[in-house]
Amino acid sequence: MTPQRPSGPFRLGDRVQLTGPKGRMHTVTLREDGELHTHHGVLRHAALIGQPDGSVVANSGGHAYLALRPLLRDFVMSMPRGAAIVYPKDAAQIVAQADVFPGAVVVEAGVGSGALSLSLLRAVGESGRLVSFERRGEFAEVAEANVETFFGSRPAQWEVVIGDLVEELPRAVAPASVDRVVLDMLAPWECIDVVADALTPGGVVLCYIATATQLSRVAEYLRNTGSFTEPEASETMVRGWHVEGLAVRPDHRMVAHTGFLVTARRLAPGAVPPDVKRRATKVPTYGDEDVEAWTPGAVGDRHITDKNLRKRVREAQKAADGARIAASGRGEDTLSPASGEAEPGA
Ligand SMILES: C[S@@+](CC[C@H](N)C(=O)[O-])C[C@H]1O[C@@H](n2cnc3c(N)ncnc32)[C@H](O)[C@@H]1O
Repeated sequence: MTPQRPSGPFRLGDRVQLTGPKGRMHTVTLREDGELHTHHGVLRHAALIGQPDGSVVANSGGHAYLALRPLLRDFVMSMPRGAAIVYPKDAAQIVAQADVFPGAVVVEAGVGSGALSLSLLRAVGESGRLVSFERRGEFAEVAEANVETFFGSRPAQWEVVIGDLVEELPRAVAPASVDRVVLDMLAPWECIDVVADALTPGGVVLCYIATATQLSRVAEYLRNTGSFTEPEASETMVRGWHVEGLAVRPDHRMVAHTGFLVTARRLAPGAVPPDVKRRATKVPTYGDEDVEAWTPGAVGDRHITDKNLRKRVREAQKAADGARIAASGRGEDTLSPASGEAEPGA
């Protein structure tokens, strides 16, 4: 069944976000005899059906309500969750970085609450195919319900497979037939070998992970397979702004850390790009570049000459001598910094 376009006049079965007195929001699904009851009065759904999106309607108490269809990002932030979701800021980047295109064959694991599935389904469109894997049946049920609620029906281009990606992917898709793979799970490195088999040469794998240690582990795994291009990593921060008259400034609060993205492209079988060969390591180590990154210049400190450094040492010692003399004048014990004990004779 083709999902209905989320535009045009309101229809029966549409989800509508109503903003009423004092900015209070209510979400309703339009029914023929449906009513929204609040202590401000009753709003009949019939008053909305046939009205353009973005209309303002009054309830029985004369209170105005702004009616809008929720955007995907509104829906995702308020839908029921089984597992943690991919936030809209990251979903947008995932679609862009993984280059998910209309008609693409995309594999996703795990499906969790289905937040990312919504963005991927939109991006592949009706001519594409999304196969979502989830090893916990009850999470998949939440995701399926969310997707059906959002689109109004189950998209024909969507398939959900219950089970572990490592076991199920080779059964579900032919080798080298998948354009894009998106992994959002605790241990994506465990799935990279089956992903490499499923991806078409030039295809993209994208891993969404929460911690720096996962980032390092999956990047090293990708690198060491020799089957992918050099992994690229990024994170996305979106800072909202308050814009009112002359009060134009960043918001005080923001969603800071959510996750990192790592992408790499599947090489053609047997292809060995020169730089991959040079950089591959069996044991991850720190290179000169990493050490260089922590030199004072790289972290923004000005370079200090030996002469200046000796001067700073003298200044510091002079200050310490002054403190010691002042303390002995007050008859206080002076602590030796090395031992933590009172200096003899002080
Ligand atoms: C953080 S959630 C995914 C959230 C989802 N992307 C969303 O936006 O709603 C991670 C999910 O991956 C599933 N998972 C972890 N490892 C898996 C694997 N090897 N195969 C299939 N599913 C897996 C977990 O059960 C969990 O539901």
